[in-house]
Amino acid sequence: QSGYVTLDLGYKNTGATTSNITFLDGEKGILRYRGYSIEELADKADFLGVSYLLIYGELPNQTQYDKFVHEITHHTMVNEDMRKIFDGFPVNAHPMGVMSSLVSAMSGFYPESYGSNNDKDVDLHIIRLMAKLPTLATWCYKKSQGHPINYPKNKLDYCSNFLHMMFGLPVEDYEINPVVAKALNKLLILHADHEQNCSTSTVRLVGSSQANLYSSISAGISALWGPLHGGANQAVIEMLEAIKADGGGVQKYLDKAKDKEDPFRLMGFGHRVYKNFDPRARIIKKAADEVLEALGIDDPILDIARGLEEAALNDEYFIKRKLYPNVDFYSGIIYRALGIPVNMFTVMFAIGRLPGWIAQWKELREAGQPIGRPRQIYTGPKERPFVDIADR
Ligand code: SDX
Repeated sequence: QSGYVTLDLGYKNTGATTSNITFLDGEKGILRYRGYSIEELADKADFLGVSYLLIYGELPNQTQYDKFVHEITHHTMVNEDMRKIFDGFPVNAHPMGVMSSLVSAMSGFYPESYGSNNDKDVDLHIIRLMAKLPTLATWCYKKSQGHPINYPKNKLDYCSNFLHMMFGLPVEDYEINPVVAKALNKLLILHADHEQNCSTSTVRLVGSSQANLYSSISAGISALWGPLHGGANQAVIEMLEAIKADGGGVQKYLDKAKDKEDPFRLMGFGHRVYKNFDPRARIIKKAADEVLEALGIDDPILDIARGLEEAALNDEYFIKRKLYPNVDFYSGIIYRALGIPVNMFTVMFAIGRLPGWIAQWKELREAGQPIGRPRQIYTGPKERPFVDIADR
């Protein structure tokens, strides 16, 4: 091969692109969307306003906001034929596999989206994805409960509509708890984008071949599912439950996580970029206290989580490797308090991350970036002659 190739496993030191969307400083624990701090947005904005900011680059004025919300609200229904695809899944199919399949199937329902750059309806596809992902997500939960699905209600806001579709039952009126809706809004904002993480890089790579937006987002959902990435929020709760079932002692699990012979890792700890603290984890940890108190929930695994964090922060192995709680460490405790089942936690991450994926895909396409095609260093066999099967 001509020239030379720099090997950078996991792209730890490779910049894949320039971007105007999200800035993060791993040393200082800074995270900003289009220049606005995550702390301010989590406190003062709503998820659709932040989605608009990420996708279109500016906080929307009232007219822009009302139009964006109106469009999304009026696209929350899903083509009834998608139920036939959905009904084919077994009841115990993991919702992340269902979601990546259904989002990919959306390209079949909106054929004008077959990629290439003359895709004049990008804004309509963006509205469709933002509007329909929550609806599709609630189908998974309702099927797991043996309950009928709920249709969206146009008079409800984004988070309230999601809660209604998730927990509403035909036999009684469903009261939206404002504490729950507010907590959901904050969590979705905190997950909305995170520059070139694994799933976003996947969305950009697929988009770089001029594949359509639905196929690119479907690939992002698949990448997010892994336990080293978004799937960690489910793995954290499963780990905390195991510690609780095992008597609640954390030291044994710290020792397991340090044992190189043992594949076990402390889920929800560590980060490729944050080497001091994940600013999102700080906000979520505080919100966990507030939400559980407001809902009058005393969840013993929150104490176990705090104990695990305390022990790890004072342990040489974790200190030396700069391993701190990340976004996934406390988020599951809030999702649980909101009544969301653990196998839906990563779906919640996907709903939050959707505007970020869309914004990054749009930026790549508008920049006309070349198709992504990394190189390799070949270490396989040298040239050798073919051998007939009789002689092998
Ligand atoms: C997300 O990139 C993003 O921005 C992602 C994300 C986003 O918003 O998109 O922030 C969301 O994915 C958060 C991360 C969720 N994943 C987990 O919580 C899984 C547990 N964490 C680890 O697997 C790990 O920390 C990663 C995957 C998050 C980061 O891995 P890196 O950067 O490749 O670091 P590494 O695996 O090379 O670890 C460095 C050292 C190693 O030890 P040594 O070889 O130096 O002896 O730290 C150790 C690792 O063994 N280590 C851990 C550990 N994480 C790293 N040891 C025990 N428990 C852990 N959690």
